[in-house]
Amino acid sequence: MWRLYKLLVGLVTCNRISKVGGYMATFGTISGIVYLVMTILYHAENAYGGIIFLAVVPPTFFGGLLLVPFGIYLEFRRRSKEDPSLGEKPLGAILQALSGESDVRNRIITFVIFSGINVALTMVIFVASLDYLDSPSFCGQLCHAVMRPEFTAYERSPHARVPCVQCHIGPGASWFVKSKIAGLRQVYAIMAKTYHRPIPTPIEQLRPARDTCEQCHWPEKFHQDKLKIITHYRNDRNNTKYYTAILLKVGGPEAEGAKPTGIHWHVSGGNRVIYASEKGERKDILWIRFERNGQPPVEYRFTGSSLSDAQIAALPKRTMDCVDCHNRPTHIYRTADSELETMFGRFPDFQNIPYLKKAASEVLAQHFSDDAIQNGEVKKALLSWYVAHPEEKPDSRLLEQASDKVQEIYGDNVWPQMNIGWGTYPNHIGHTVSLHTRAGAKSLGEAIAGEPAVVGSAVGGLGCLRCHGNNHVTAEGKAVRSDCRLCHTLLALEEEKPPLFDFMVHKER
Ligand code: HEC
Ligand code: HEC
Ligand code: HEC
Ligand code: HEC
Ligand code: HEC
Repeated sequence: MWRLYKLLVGLVTCNRISKVGGYMATFGTISGIVYLVMTILYHAENAYGGIIFLAVVPPTFFGGLLLVPFGIYLEFRRRSKEDPSLGEKPLGAILQALSGESDVRNRIITFVIFSGINVALTMVIFVASLDYLDSPSFCGQLCHAVMRPEFTAYERSPHARVPCVQCHIGPGASWFVKSKIAGLRQVYAIMAKTYHRPIPTPIEQLRPARDTCEQCHWPEKFHQDKLKIITHYRNDRNNTKYYTAILLKVGGPEAEGAKPTGIHWHVSGGNRVIYASEKGERKDILWIRFERNGQPPVEYRFTGSSLSDAQIAALPKRTMDCVDCHNRPTHIYRTADSELETMFGRFPDFQNIPYLKKAASEVLAQHFSDDAIQNGEVKKALLSWYVAHPEEKPDSRLLEQASDKVQEIYGDNVWPQMNIGWGTYPNHIGHTVSLHTRAGAKSLGEAIAGEPAVVGSAVGGLGCLRCHGNNHVTAEGKAVRSDCRLCHTLLALEEEKPPLFDFMVHKER
């Protein structure tokens, strides 16, 4: 052992370059071990530590390993010039001469075996740390200015414990490789600051949702109807509470042999809804085709566009999947209204602050810069609303607490640096506007312009009305159905004491 060591040291130190290689490999091994021990002992999942480790340690180690033989080769060339007969000697003798040691053959074999083990160990450490590249802390925190909005929204969502990669990459090797290649481009975009603000959506590289979402949810498991009781608060002095209750026809599981029905009809039982949208943005839908094996397809056209058959045929098509409706399963940016309603739900005492809903809505609608958000200006704005209305006299402790919450709401949803404001990322579940839209408008935006808003739910966009807005018809003039009972039964509409009141109040206790 000792002699092997001496031979190695002799060889590695025979030339300046191989010496440097030796130091690098040693550094790589030691820091790799230290990093591993640290992560195991302290569960240190620090984003910067991880990237520094990955960027520095493996290249140093493997670079060092390459430099050693290269240095030895250079030394061999130099010595051969001094002693031309060196090149004719057997390998053992050459190494012996270079290192100044005797009896090298067995030691070389041992050395090769040991190096093999060493390389294998380092590979294991390296692969283990690739896992880290897939962790939410890497995805969400490392590029913090860019991903912080996404990460914040994610942490407040029902999927806060689902790692980013479960949806963005999913199982299997080919998407893993694709994502790593896309990732390199993104790292470049971040360093060169060429990324878009806000990050554009839809994301083209998102894996088809059926592969990812259905790892955990699948259509056979959807349950029939879902009762949803939505609480709203008025802008009056008492922040009066009122209710809407809907029975959502979620759909599934179907009886054996029966046709699927309900909202999940689009993705159930072999149904395919294919569509083309303006600029591929999935917002203004130009053309829809419904297919089901053994049935003639049905095509619908947006009444506001005059595209020819050839132009339609040339458009990129997409088959509807989970994220065409659940586009915000985890990055849920909400409307100011729905945030305030959640706040009242969590802190019922806030209802005792006169006009809180109205005052907070006004404050949230203002524009604040990044610095202003940092300095708590949102909170100050709410407090000064009450200074300007001295007759209201809210409980000062409650007001203090509420203004902290309002500040938090603004900070969670508005990110000036990334150009993300209220409504930048609308949610497609549901609808905010009336269904009675004008046929023949140039865009859906125009079709709904001036229409009264029906609801103030967590949507902020057209949602289902992208197709169910009375604006998509077949050649025979039949529109995609849009009657109010297609998707839900309205049990109570904006009532302070709905017929279901006792039941609802009971639910709240
Ligand atoms: C439950 C599944 C899911 C998880 C978990 C998830 N995402 Fe997403 N993500 C999506 C979907 C769906 C979209 C929207 C896709 C679309 O509209 O094309 C999206 C969009 C994005 C976008 C584009 C901007 C936007 O909001 O549309 C970014 C950036 C992003 N995700 C990053 C992350 C990061 C970072 C994490 C982990 C901290 C993460 N995602 C976790 C499903 C998920
Ligand atoms: C790794 C498993 C996993 C994956 C992948 C996943 N989800 Fe979920 N999802 C969950 C869990 C667990 C819950 C329940 C969370 C709770 O009740 O708080 C949930 C809840 C939901 C809900 C109900 C949310 C609510 O407000 O109650 C929807 C809708 C949903 N997921 C859609 C999706 C979509 C769409 C995708 C794909 C883009 C997806 N999920 C991917 C595990 C997953
Ligand atoms: C046509 C639009 C649409 C499509 C496509 C769609 N969903 Fe849904 N989904 C909904 C609506 C609407 C709800 C009810 C929302 C609510 O509870 O507020 C829902 C509810 C859910 C829930 C909660 C179920 C419950 O009973 O609480 C899950 C989980 C879910 N969807 C997963 C999926 C998955 C996975 C896919 C893809 C296979 C999918 N959805 C496709 C519209 C859709
Ligand atoms: C294509 C399906 C569809 C049609 C048609 C439809 N809705 Fe809805 N509606 C939904 C969904 C999905 C939600 C649930 C959104 C959510 O989960 O927040 C909803 C929610 C609502 C709400 C409750 C929103 C809130 O936050 O208080 C009201 C009220 C409502 N719809 C009224 C109507 C009326 C009135 C019509 C007919 C003019 C109609 N809807 C037609 C899908 C539809
Ligand atoms: C890309 C277009 C598109 C979008 C977006 C869309 N749908 Fe549909 N939907 C269709 C088409 C096409 C049909 C079949 C036409 C019909 O039944 O009149 C349909 C049918 C339905 C049906 C009837 C299913 C049955 O039992 O026969 C329901 C319920 C439904 N959609 C709900 C929704 C809800 C809720 C949303 C929003 C969360 C939504 N749809 C979004 C295209 C769409």
